[in-house]
Amino acid sequence: MTAVSPPPTDPARLLEELGRILGPTGVLTAARDMDPFCTDWRNLYHGRACAVLRPADTHELSAVVRLCAAHGVPMVPQGGNTSMVGGATPDDSGREIVICMSRMNRIRGIDPHEMTMEVEAGVPLKVAQDAAREAGMMLPLSISSEGSAQMGGILATNAGGNNTVRYGNARELLLGLEAVLPDGEVFHGLRRLRKDNTGYALRQLFVGSEGTLGFITRAIIQLQPAPKEVEVALCAVEDAQGALALFSAFRALDPALIQAFEYMSGTGMALVNELIAGASLPLEQPAPAYVLVELATPRPGTDLRAFMEGVLADAMEKGIVTDAVMAESETQRANLWKLREEHAEAQKRAGASVKNDVSVPVARVPELIARATQACMDLIPGIRPAPFGHLGDGNIHFNVVQPVDMPADAFLARSHDIMDAVADIVRDLDGSFSAEHGVGQLKPYMMAEWRGGAELATMRRIKEALDPHGLMNPGKIFPPAAPR
Ligand code: MLT
Ligand code: ZN
Repeated sequence: MTAVSPPPTDPARLLEELGRILGPTGVLTAARDMDPFCTDWRNLYHGRACAVLRPADTHELSAVVRLCAAHGVPMVPQGGNTSMVGGATPDDSGREIVICMSRMNRIRGIDPHEMTMEVEAGVPLKVAQDAAREAGMMLPLSISSEGSAQMGGILATNAGGNNTVRYGNARELLLGLEAVLPDGEVFHGLRRLRKDNTGYALRQLFVGSEGTLGFITRAIIQLQPAPKEVEVALCAVEDAQGALALFSAFRALDPALIQAFEYMSGTGMALVNELIAGASLPLEQPAPAYVLVELATPRPGTDLRAFMEGVLADAMEKGIVTDAVMAESETQRANLWKLREEHAEAQKRAGASVKNDVSVPVARVPELIARATQACMDLIPGIRPAPFGHLGDGNIHFNVVQPVDMPADAFLARSHDIMDAVADIVRDLDGSFSAEHGVGQLKPYMMAEWRGGAELATMRRIKEALDPHGLMNPGKIFPPAAPR
């Protein structure tokens, strides 16, 4: 890997020059101002920065990146700071500069004919979704952190979420992209073409690069027609096998109607019920596991409700579903989704937890859940596995919450044992150790083992070609290189 860059030749001069480009509000240097940018959402990483920069447009960003590169200063791009893997947090050297994209937050246009939206990196996902809705369309990407997560970070991490089962990950929604490269040069790929076979699809290189190849500054996103009919049901099932059988039942009839298909364990649901204000399970009895299914269609008069009722009635007759409730109104729909969306927050409130964002082929989800649950319980008595997530994509957040009577620190000291135990099973099932949260600074050690050989070597060559001095988001994705 690239050599560690030298310390800034003259930090005072650098800060002065940065201030000239960004103005006094664009450069933060006081510890109390920088603190929120130096700690991650999960409170796992606490870094220090030499400054936090807040450029207002591509031109300013390009100028400050050029300057930082000339001074050999490492840069950490940051959007909504919602990374699950410490992907936007600086290290603790105090040498890195965090570059926050929040001021680049304009929606530059919505084209109803092309059904596209042009956004700047700092637009929060929720704002982009609302704008699409107001224009009579839909931005089909939905994640729990959508109020804070920003479009640049969404693309840089190839976010997935609840609608991937139908519309794909962030990557699939991207038509064009503008980025600032590690030397400050602007990559102009902001085209809105559906067909553009002109060599390598370079824009896609930045998607999933987690800020290691440059800064995504603007993007053109494919929108979809707004749904005219939406139905949401919460179903009780005996286990993940039942959840999979229900998924297969819907898929066999009409996969194009499934907009979300989410699994939740009984343990996770109980935590939401107990710890989240306003959340309450609308079923007679708690169940061992649940599915939240959302169907949607842009065609009016489809009678989606009858379709949903028919599939659920049949599943109940076959014993696949033991109880179910369908939302009757927008408010009820939001309440059912709240039970799903608050899983991460409820787990945070329940104490320390370890997240395993993994994927396996869809048909192997039940085996993953059964084996990983057993492995974790064998490892730490009293541990509370609370798996949930995007069953329709084979992506389960195999999260485990600390035993009630174990000190949080002692539990977290076992994090890697837990992650390794789950990872062994995932590997056995031909899965991935990172489905949608990325690698960040939490999992680079796994890259060497899982993506070694030609795959990691090729990634390193790309990284070296674009960022020869290793200045972009150091310590993320790549494990330290073995000495040559
Ligand atoms: C979610 O789908 O809610 C997040 O990706 C979850 C998490 O692992 O906490
Ligand atoms: Zn998720």
